[in-house]
Amino acid sequence: MSRNLYIETFGCQMNERDSEIMAQLLGEESYLETAGPEEADCIVVNTCTIRGKAAQKAYSLLGSYKILKERNPELVIVVTGCVAQQDGAALLARMPHLDLVVGPQNIYRLPELVAAAREKAARATAVELSPAFTIPAFLPKLEGGVAHKRFVTIMQGCNNFCTYCVVPHTRGREVSRRPEDILAEVSHLADHGVREITLLGQNVNSYGLDRPETARVTFPALLRQVAEIERLSRVRFTTSHPKDLSPELIRTLAEIDKLCPHFHLPVQSGSDLVLARMNRKYTRGDYLEKVAALRQSCPEIAITTDIIVGFPGESEADFEQTMELLELVRYDSAFSFKYSDRPLAAAADFADKVPEEHKSARLARLQARQEEISSEILQTLIGQTVEVMVEGRSKAAGGQWSGRTPENRIVNFPAPEELQPGQLLRVKLEETCRHSLRGVIAWSQPKLTARRHQGQETILQLR
Ligand code: 5AD
Ligand code: SF4
Repeated sequence: MSRNLYIETFGCQMNERDSEIMAQLLGEESYLETAGPEEADCIVVNTCTIRGKAAQKAYSLLGSYKILKERNPELVIVVTGCVAQQDGAALLARMPHLDLVVGPQNIYRLPELVAAAREKAARATAVELSPAFTIPAFLPKLEGGVAHKRFVTIMQGCNNFCTYCVVPHTRGREVSRRPEDILAEVSHLADHGVREITLLGQNVNSYGLDRPETARVTFPALLRQVAEIERLSRVRFTTSHPKDLSPELIRTLAEIDKLCPHFHLPVQSGSDLVLARMNRKYTRGDYLEKVAALRQSCPEIAITTDIIVGFPGESEADFEQTMELLELVRYDSAFSFKYSDRPLAAAADFADKVPEEHKSARLARLQARQEEISSEILQTLIGQTVEVMVEGRSKAAGGQWSGRTPENRIVNFPAPEELQPGQLLRVKLEETCRHSLRGVIAWSQPKLTARRHQGQETILQLR
């Protein structure tokens, strides 16, 4: 007999990937995913607590499921992800309609935990963070239409303890997956039609450093091995901590065609005083040097970032330094956030909290300027012919086809026929839209340059 499973996912790509794993594990126990929570026999809410708002959303969704439990006492409600890890048993005490609270290291035990909750009606938490934790070998089950791009987790956890951040407290210390497991997963995905892979970790540059030296493969070495897998056209990765961005990684990026020239390099602040209080372990000068080195070896690279405004003690002068950094780096785009206190993170106890209205004003100013820079950069691309990997039709672009360049820029274009997601083609850019580009398929320029021709068999012959 099959049962219905409903999963709601908040937060980062790591959580997206964990939700897929949980769906697969419970699928093996006859739980089939359903579209809504009303008809579910088991609900999993995979939560995020990175910022105050994210956690709030999770709490309010969990609260709203009380009525479903009253209607169906057999329903098993599970909280996973970072709120689960952060709050543990307190969550069960606060919301009596919840059955299970399971932290990110414990999701592989989900089938057994859900069965026990159902059969014995026992409520439980599984939030141990073990220093001996290893990520189990796990091949995704691929049935039906497989997406052309996928995420592959290469490591979990974080050792950095930036003072604003909850992640080291919820995801534990860095644990790298075995390289052979990663390569097996990527090959398996490529065999099933996946053309683009994003390798995921909180700090991918320190991949492998937690493994014994004899069995160690560094991140650049891993990238080289992944890129060798045939039928993959593009390899991306995220996230990199600036302090660990090595010359070897920069070299690797320039040398390997399949590695996309896009670097997400979170700066967080342009002020040395704030960076020190954030415990980022680099200065503004160090950061700018890394940006210059990246651009020198890979001039077309698109650089994106994360920025926090209103960190405790951030003065107007500190903030001006961040604004100035925007001008110096000229990011393709930036995710920017108002600082929010996170329980467990050190900065929650820092003095000199910045008033909310100052944070809002700074964020608005920063975002307005970044929008201008982003669109100025898009404008410089008009007239170029670029490689685009087809994603699908875009509702936002009135049903036109949509794809992404290696730099991760979105390009919309009309096409006379059905295209295949994952297909590579060349598009001549004609105009910019708000956060994207519009172009036409470059019929007259079908040839790919030597760079990135690996997906040959999927390239439309456009002559
Ligand atoms: N407040 C605001 N933003 C935060 N981030 C992480 N923790 C906080 C916090 N307490 C941001 C950082 C990080 C991104 C994922 O979220 O910019 O890079
Ligand atoms: Fe992901 Fe960070 Fe949110 Fe945890 S807190 S789910 S690691 S974004």
